[in-house]
Amino acid sequence: MLQEKQVVLSGIRATGKMHLGNYLGAMKNFVDLQNTEGYQCFYFVADYHTLTTNPDPDELKTNLPGIVLDYLAAGIDPEKSTLYAQSSVPELAELCLLIGMVTPIGELMRCPTFKEKARKQPDNVNHGLFTYPVLMAADILGPKADLVPVGEDQLPHVEITRFIANRFNSRYGKVFELPVALMEKAIRVPGLDGTDKMGKSEGNTIDLSDSADAVWEKLRVAVTDEQRERRSDPGRPYLCNLYALHEFVSLTDIVKAIDEECRSATIGCIDCKKKLAENITAILDPLQQRRVEIAKGPDYIRQVLHDGGQRAREIIKETVAEVRQKMGLIMY
Ligand code: ADP
Ligand code: TRP
Repeated sequence: MLQEKQVVLSGIRATGKMHLGNYLGAMKNFVDLQNTEGYQCFYFVADYHTLTTNPDPDELKTNLPGIVLDYLAAGIDPEKSTLYAQSSVPELAELCLLIGMVTPIGELMRCPTFKEKARKQPDNVNHGLFTYPVLMAADILGPKADLVPVGEDQLPHVEITRFIANRFNSRYGKVFELPVALMEKAIRVPGLDGTDKMGKSEGNTIDLSDSADAVWEKLRVAVTDEQRERRSDPGRPYLCNLYALHEFVSLTDIVKAIDEECRSATIGCIDCKKKLAENITAILDPLQQRRVEIAKGPDYIRQVLHDGGQRAREIIKETVAEVRQKMGLIMY
């Protein structure tokens, strides 16, 4: 018997430039899944979700194609994966409205990401921010995704999605499978400022668009083990953020050597940073070259998003029709 493909789905918001953490923690994974037998992948830019925190229309119009270019440069192949902009599938907004009827507001109020974002932008605690998890559930349930590769910060949202799917199925009859968060490869790339997460709003990133010089300038001043003041002081790699970065981008032998040489003060932080810069640049270089190639055809991105949007729409429309029918809605 032919086994049905598992549906994989994930999205990224268009809130700014992509950084190394986004690439290693999300996009690289997406590409691996796309290239694994047995998976049908849906990847999108969550532009509706972007508006919950970043309402500037001009920024959105620049950032969205940028993220799509990054997807493509990272290796997402629009022939293999369905790549689209969330708002090109307006049926998702209807699905969000409908599944909202089985979402208790208590669930949304308890959501840690809502509390955090409300704290961060007290002047803009909008309805979209509050219903963020419901729209995310629509994203996931629309194409009936089985697997959702996300970082650990997104787990509460996948949990709410399962809750909604369950509620819907038991009230109206089975429509949805329960999606599972794919966390095996969830990693957390540290920031350059000594904090444990590289993040767009933290200003501690290496961007995918950074030149070799820019990478070096950022690393040169990046925080290391603060107790290692002199070159002759033995270092503590297990406490050093840049060592943690080495673990993500350098070969095992090099990482091992750096560990020993740092502890014995055989190498200084500058030597260690130079190696790190080289290895990061080696990852970024091919991505940047592909990005330039792809960006040459200005219509290409629009075409990819158009085709992907149409494909996603066909599939999501069917789910919405099923949901409407179960809920007793008739198109008169
Ligand atoms: P940011 O935190 O920089 O705003 P997003 O929240 O837009 O990034 O995340 C987009 C994707 O990249 C998510 O899947 C998230 O889990 C992943 N990601 C973001 N930062 C990191 C990081 N430092 N390490 C690993 N993955 C990350
Ligand atoms: N909330 C996700 C983030 O901030 C983006 C997102 C929106 C998403 N809809 C999704 C991720 C559906 C996975 C599945 O990173």
